[in-house]
Amino acid sequence: MTFPKVVEHVKVPPIKCQGIKTKLVNFIFQNIKWDEQGKWIEPFLGSGVVLFNANPQRALVSDTNKHIIKMYQDIQSGVLTPQSVRDFLEVEGKKLEESNGEYYYEVRDRFNENGSSFDFIFLNRSCFNGMMRFNKTGGFNVPFCRKPERFRTALITKIVNQIIWVSKVMKGKDWTFVCQDWRETLKEANEIDFVYMDPPYIGRHTNYYNQWDEKEAKDLAEAAGQLPCGYALSMWYENQYRKNDHLDVWNGVIRTTSHFYHVGASERNRNAMEEALIIKEGYESDVLPQVSEQLQLI
Ligand SMILES: C[S@@+](CC[C@H](N)C(=O)[O-])C[C@H]1O[C@@H](n2cnc3c(N)ncnc32)[C@H](O)[C@@H]1O
Repeated sequence: MTFPKVVEHVKVPPIKCQGIKTKLVNFIFQNIKWDEQGKWIEPFLGSGVVLFNANPQRALVSDTNKHIIKMYQDIQSGVLTPQSVRDFLEVEGKKLEESNGEYYYEVRDRFNENGSSFDFIFLNRSCFNGMMRFNKTGGFNVPFCRKPERFRTALITKIVNQIIWVSKVMKGKDWTFVCQDWRETLKEANEIDFVYMDPPYIGRHTNYYNQWDEKEAKDLAEAAGQLPCGYALSMWYENQYRKNDHLDVWNGVIRTTSHFYHVGASERNRNAMEEALIIKEGYESDVLPQVSEQLQLI
């Protein structure tokens, strides 16, 4: 398969993170041109939703968040399997329920000491608002979602199915997961590769693994300008208050799509947000697709 393409059923991986691009997967895939001869390079992997739906034969993906990378390495090496995750969540979910939620904090302390991928999934799927946030010293610090019966059979099955899906997609593929800064990853790019970049938003969600400022953004734009291959960068374009002024440092073709975010439960708080994809000239698709979807902020 080559790009542009459309994925009929976009699937989600077993972890969630801020800025997850589930709703933008097809917008990205429809707008880029790449023949898949080289490797898919994704230096800001996050949840992995873009990579897994892109499903390339060769990939080099990275993130500075060591927990994300370790979890995918553990799935790749068979440490974490659908069955071991099911067994773990059944046992730990029961303890959570019996402790009326208090057990969450025990798992959180344990995770901050040992960094187990099983605990990472447990915390990611039972923390408040599904957030991934770390304190100054790198400790996971999100409170509990306050639903002691969180790990019901339906949720465990859903998570296990997500593990089955990512394991299947990875199988037989030449994929490398590395924990490193984007600069190191971009050094590996060759002419036939394609780089998809989704850095943190400047000034938003700032925490241990999401330190991103004007200087970083400028350095990334400069480094992208030196890349020997095609690239695309995700960025917000404008909202009801203002246009993103960090777009100026980028050269390339801009494609945009509109989303509506519901902030809170009220229908009245419906905010339009324009998302952009900046594509290196010559690597944009020929046809302008029409993609417009609703985003629900939870
Ligand atoms: C907006 S998120 C990516 C979301 C992802 N595209 C998805 O759909 O789930 C940005 C990611 O960049 C990572 N990150 C932050 N600073 C980084 C750096 N200097 N080098 C590499 N990754 C970094 C964060 O840990 C975070 O996972």
